[in-house]
Amino acid sequence: MSSADCIPVITVDGPSGSGKGTVALAVAQALGWNFLDSGALYRVVGLLSLRNPGVPPAQLADAIDLHFDKAADGTPRVWLGSEDVSLSIRSEAVSQAASRVAADPAVRAALVKAQRDFRQAPGLVADGRDMGTVIFSDAGLKIFLTASVEERARRRHKQLIEKGQSANLDDLLRDIGDRDRRDRERSAAPLRAAEDALVIDSTAVDVDSVVQQILSQRALVASG
Ligand code: C5P
Repeated sequence: MSSADCIPVITVDGPSGSGKGTVALAVAQALGWNFLDSGALYRVVGLLSLRNPGVPPAQLADAIDLHFDKAADGTPRVWLGSEDVSLSIRSEAVSQAASRVAADPAVRAALVKAQRDFRQAPGLVADGRDMGTVIFSDAGLKIFLTASVEERARRRHKQLIEKGQSANLDDLLRDIGDRDRRDRERSAAPLRAAEDALVIDSTAVDVDSVVQQILSQRALVASG
């Protein structure tokens, strides 16, 4: 057991658009802990694979030069070398590319260490698909956040419209459905709730209530 294994971790897994990113970041901020958006790593490999179609994605993942920081308003930023890719990795094309490269076991293996390196004091909240099942399987608290596919498409639609981007609800429903299927059906670390995860359905619940529910569970685990 290394000293990092003593550092507490909360994992927040779930399908695209379940709100896990927003929830996980809010929990990390409330506790003053570090935050890992593991999807950003797969998104950057997806972006690189679109830019370098002839190169095996695992090779791109191996050489990835990625770091995170925060903009002046506190929003997380993602850097690929000296390029700010925070916006470009959120496009639908990159979302689809990310879910394709994420099905490759060699890509997943190349990203394990980079993810575990985020486990630093005083604690880590990790958001993804396999945080509780694979990367931090010893986490003290595991959350699996779900929401209906219609609600997730509606949320994504609202987000895009608010950003001034064009969006079509039917296209989003189809894209989210495709990504769900790929994430759940792949053989390498498929999306599923860990056996010891607390499953929360956020379809009809707002972010604040989910965050409060997680913080009260955390208090129970910490005092147990
Ligand atoms: O969470 P986000 O939507 O940003 O993730 C983008 C894609 O990366 C997902 O659709 C999924 O295929 C993949 N992913 C993964 N394992 C993770 C995080 C993301 O396979 N831990």
